[in-house]
Amino acid sequence: MPRALITGITGQDGSYLVDFLLSKGYEVHGLIRRASTFNTGRLGHIYVDPHLPGARMFLHYGDLSDSGQLTNLIYNVHPDEIYHLGSQSHVRVSFDIPEYTGDITGLGTTRILEALRRSGIKARYYQASSSEMFGASPPPQNEKTPFYPRSPYGAAKVYSYWMAVNYREGYGMYASNGILFNHESPRRGETFVTRKITRAIAAIKAGKQKELFLGNLDARRDWGFAYEYVQAMWMMLQHDKGDDFVVGTGQSNSVREFAEEAFSYAGLDWDKYVKIDKKYFRPTEVENLIADASKARKILGWEPKITFRELVRIMVDSDMEEAGLTPPGEGRRILAAKGFPIGSKL
Ligand code: NAP
Ligand code: GDD
Repeated sequence: MPRALITGITGQDGSYLVDFLLSKGYEVHGLIRRASTFNTGRLGHIYVDPHLPGARMFLHYGDLSDSGQLTNLIYNVHPDEIYHLGSQSHVRVSFDIPEYTGDITGLGTTRILEALRRSGIKARYYQASSSEMFGASPPPQNEKTPFYPRSPYGAAKVYSYWMAVNYREGYGMYASNGILFNHESPRRGETFVTRKITRAIAAIKAGKQKELFLGNLDARRDWGFAYEYVQAMWMMLQHDKGDDFVVGTGQSNSVREFAEEAFSYAGLDWDKYVKIDKKYFRPTEVENLIADASKARKILGWEPKITFRELVRIMVDSDMEEAGLTPPGEGRRILAAKGFPIGSKL
């Protein structure tokens, strides 16, 4: 049975990756942080008591700031594959806590890579790199586009990217960078703009919210569906050598377009509800991201199936369901029609 270790297992991508790896027959180990409340909400639907026979997901306490525990974990789990997804992943927040972001999103990577190198274990390593590294470089962006990060988060991810490349070239380790463009889902963190919009729509429909405050509506992002992006991560590690791949849809939409599409799907007029609050603007912004994912298509055979419009429908439906409302219902139909093995927990 192949064994995977995931940092960031409690996050959006970590939770979909567990779903996917368990379906592929893996035993999965994940790093979780101690918190005063449960932070495993995204894993509840697949959690099986580890005392029971047949349990294949195991959670271990630790933190990306603690190299001793990371070393211990890699040594004890002895993984075949490591997916390093853990990070302080919020770009706006990275301007408020730049030092912490550098420590976790940047140095955290070095702690894992160094623990792996010293262990002598020949695991394949996946680095969660980001389109945010391209920053101000004009689109379309591919593996050859120069990095020009526009946030402490972007700068920390550029550092991590190069550490993975250096461990690959310097020590012959198997390390791949997935340069993923924005990917969203019903499990997206509630303060990222897409989920903030779809949750607000559900709350407005339920009569619990009257307005939605956003920042820059003109920024454009290449938004895809997260489940397909964790499949791309796995496909990268099945490739015969470590390499770097851009993953995205090739289509970009503005925040305004996302809001228009989502509100209108729910039968609402977006500009009656959306208001601007300057506090959501960033000191430096990434204006436009559009992936050129031709390398991933050619070498890995990866291609996204879910379009922008479909993604919006999946997310609005899910948030309306969560609010106890009856959604228009196209989201689940789209997932079923396109063969996604996502059951009750979208
Ligand atoms: P996410 O939902 O914010 O999840 C981040 C994960 O990192 C959570 O499990 C979080 O744990 C964990 N984490 C944060 N600080 C930690 C620490 N000090 N020690 C240990 N774990 C820590 O992010 P995501 O959207 O799944 O993204 C996964 C990775 O891909 C991240 O590295 C992100 O930067 C990168 N990425 C994301 C996108 C995207 O569009 N989603 C695109 C490109 C790259 P808690 O649950 O305890 O907070
Ligand atoms: N979060 C947020 N909240 N963003 C807003 C808002 C708001 O109220 N109003 C406008 N925006 C704009 C932001 O200025 C940005 O241009 C865009 O919406 C997307 O913001 P986020 O959803 O926060 O995502 P991000 O693009 O900054 O970062 C995400 O994608 C990166 C990949 O490009 C994160 O998942 C990163 O971890 C990831 O690496």
